[in-house]
Amino acid sequence: MTVPPPLPVPGFYGLDEAWAIEQDRADPLAWCREEFELPVGADGVPLVYLCGNSLGAMPKPARAQVDREMGAWARLGVEAYFEGSAPWYPYSQRLREPLARVLGADPAEVIPMNGLTVNLHLLLVTFYRPTGKRNRILIEGAAFPSDAYAAASHLQTRGAEKEALLVARPRPGESALRTEDLEALLAERGQEIAVVWLGGVQYYTGQLLDLPRITQAAHRAGCLVGFDLAHAAGNAELRLHEWEVDFAAWCSYKYLNGGPGAIAGCFVHERHGRNRALPRYAGWWGNDPATRFEMQSQSAFVPVADAAGWQISSPPVLAMAPLAASLTLFDRVGMPALRRKSVRLTGYLEFLVDRIPEGRAQVITPRDSAGRGCQLSLRIAGADVLVPALRARGIVTDYRDPDVIRAAPVPLYNTFHEVWRFVQVLEELLSGGGSCP
Ligand SMILES: Cc1ncc(COP(=O)(O)O)c(C=O)c1O
Repeated sequence: MTVPPPLPVPGFYGLDEAWAIEQDRADPLAWCREEFELPVGADGVPLVYLCGNSLGAMPKPARAQVDREMGAWARLGVEAYFEGSAPWYPYSQRLREPLARVLGADPAEVIPMNGLTVNLHLLLVTFYRPTGKRNRILIEGAAFPSDAYAAASHLQTRGAEKEALLVARPRPGESALRTEDLEALLAERGQEIAVVWLGGVQYYTGQLLDLPRITQAAHRAGCLVGFDLAHAAGNAELRLHEWEVDFAAWCSYKYLNGGPGAIAGCFVHERHGRNRALPRYAGWWGNDPATRFEMQSQSAFVPVADAAGWQISSPPVLAMAPLAASLTLFDRVGMPALRRKSVRLTGYLEFLVDRIPEGRAQVITPRDSAGRGCQLSLRIAGADVLVPALRARGIVTDYRDPDVIRAAPVPLYNTFHEVWRFVQVLEELLSGGGSCP
């Protein structure tokens, strides 16, 4: 038997189905679920979709928004860039304010563009400036592969040894990184590190790092610091400007519900953004709009003096449309209310999982709600078989090698009852019911 951790308040969560149903009835964000078209099974019954950590569900207004842009294309052709009720030319500009509210930034510090890894490359071109002994990039041992590939490729193309990739790991036997260990590493070896690049919410364990403390420790050591916010944007409350994070990038297809391969985003703190002299890869869309169309004069590149100065190509309107629609929901809900529900919903999942007999499901995500987003990662023997078995019972989670199920109850569209149902089915499968031994 596992011993469950102490509850925040005795009786805070209930065990029975009626308790879950009552929470949904009283949920101030219950209306928001109706704003999503949720995946359905072959029988037409909605699935319990706990996979927003991978691809967020579709906001209903997204369909209409894409349709609107298709209509504008058909009706106006190229003139849609400047005509109609919502012209295309300032489309990415219009997304900056709602994005800034989600990221805790000034609108001028954020810009939707490209894919996440592409943005990471563009940011490293600027912010990875190895000089003498300070030539390392600090990443984590369990970094998402694309981040590790990108970092290694910058070492290679800038003439640094591949050993210049410095790797932070959890202590033996632990799953999460400790902030104090990162601080110690930065204090000890910071003079060798040019750039720190870490995941805000770790994709495998669901750990939310202490971003302000890490930023401060990196700055004390004279390093620049950036974060991969793929699993943090729209999931955790962020204050990128106030924390003085140097740069960040995220994708929009997870918690931002922007659709498959949705346009990503990047953050450049205004103290860097206004520095036009920073080296970067240039393209016409990053150029000052006042001279963007002066094509005959062959004038020199003059970057916009904020995050928009890192843009290269004309923004993909059809890829931005679902994100634009989704961000209207984020504005209606607001990150504080979203996070309040998220902490309770994930806490409830943890409470139920801890009561699965014989410790057969081990939560590897940090136990403190301040140290995680909505995802819990469960280490379970036979996870690879359980995930399809859960799917056969109408529950969508995902499997990560070798023995982890990731389950993310997303506060915008998941319910307490869905969490209850998930754990009930999981327990049945673990105890030999259903199709899974
Ligand atoms: C943590 C993390 N970083 C990077 C990526 C890669 O993003 P993209 O394919 O948009 O470059 C992902 C994709 O899921 C991710 O989860």
